Amino acid sequence: MKKLLIEAEKINVFSDCSDKHFCLVTNKELKDLIQIKENNHFISNTIYTIDDEYNFEYILHKTLPDNACVLVISPYVFFESPPQKTLGNRRVIAMACNSTPTSIDDIAHFWECLVQTDPQEQQLKTDVFFELGQESQHLRFIDYKNNTEAVFMHMDESYLWSEQTGILNDGEQQLAPSGEISVLPINIQEFDKTLRLDINGTIALHGTPILHNGTPSFTREDQKRIHSNLSKISKSAIIATIKNGEITDIKATSPISQKAVDTLNCMFEIDSRYRILWEIGFGINKNIKLRAGNHAMNETYGAENGCIHFGLGLTPYTQYHLDIICPNMNVLTDNNTTLIGTPKKIKKMNILRNTQGNCLCTEF
Ligand SMILES: [Fe+2]
Repeated sequence: MKKLLIEAEKINVFSDCSDKHFCLVTNKELKDLIQIKENNHFISNTIYTIDDEYNFEYILHKTLPDNACVLVISPYVFFESPPQKTLGNRRVIAMACNSTPTSIDDIAHFWECLVQTDPQEQQLKTDVFFELGQESQHLRFIDYKNNTEAVFMHMDESYLWSEQTGILNDGEQQLAPSGEISVLPINIQEFDKTLRLDINGTIALHGTPILHNGTPSFTREDQKRIHSNLSKISKSAIIATIKNGEITDIKATSPISQKAVDTLNCMFEIDSRYRILWEIGFGINKNIKLRAGNHAMNETYGAENGCIHFGLGLTPYTQYHLDIICPNMNVLTDNNTTLIGTPKKIKKMNILRNTQGNCLCTEF
């Protein structure tokens, strides 16, 4: 079987790290499938494995050098982000590959996206996003194709904005491939079902779902079936009515997406917290090529000009966390500047004249 060759010097957030050690943290199941290509960029290159007992926290304290660049690829063991203060001088990037089933081919796909990711370019996008966002009183989420609009009062000071984008410094950690700005009503590791994002209107759920499993016992078969039902929204939209950050109604736009509506309604019935629009994510990684199937690493997908995803539920509190990537959705500021998505083309009048010289006006 062909091995995945990790060319660590190609990871752009580690480009200035020639005085550091490179550490790949993975699982014993992948040890024969993954290899670090020899390089002179780092002081050393070493593979470490983690399991449920000797987990990342354990090797962070016991084994990993302080001046290390660390890449975590751990599909078989849940990787929990360590507290910032425990990182020391290390830079840690982690591929999200435990909450959805992830094969070596999936890892290879997103590895290619990772090495193409440009942190400087992402940093610039992030800075512009916050600059324009802060000048606006509200954000409008518009899907021109499905004719929906919702208004988000995003300036509430209690919201927690997180960035998994751009430049990475010593003592910091990041998703890999990076490229997500997200907003939640509270810290990402906490959950309070009384909190809401102040968003109202209609949104079209039309695109790619990701169904992340949580820590409670579950089966991959159930996860696959539920994801497969929800995936009908890739072909046909669901229109969701949002009142004060909560989904109050969902409707299929055609019989194709009815199965997804039924499945979502089942989820609402079992755990009403799935109705809460818990996270709004702004994917800005234009190097992510969406991979068909249920893949956590699709989350930072940013198309050409950014892409929205909505997050329902929060693991480990709910059994699943459902992200819905919606490439048709644009986000506009209060002066109609497009923050996310491709600006709608302004129709121009095309003036033609017929043989009699009369004006024939058409729009294009
Ligand atoms: Fe997200």
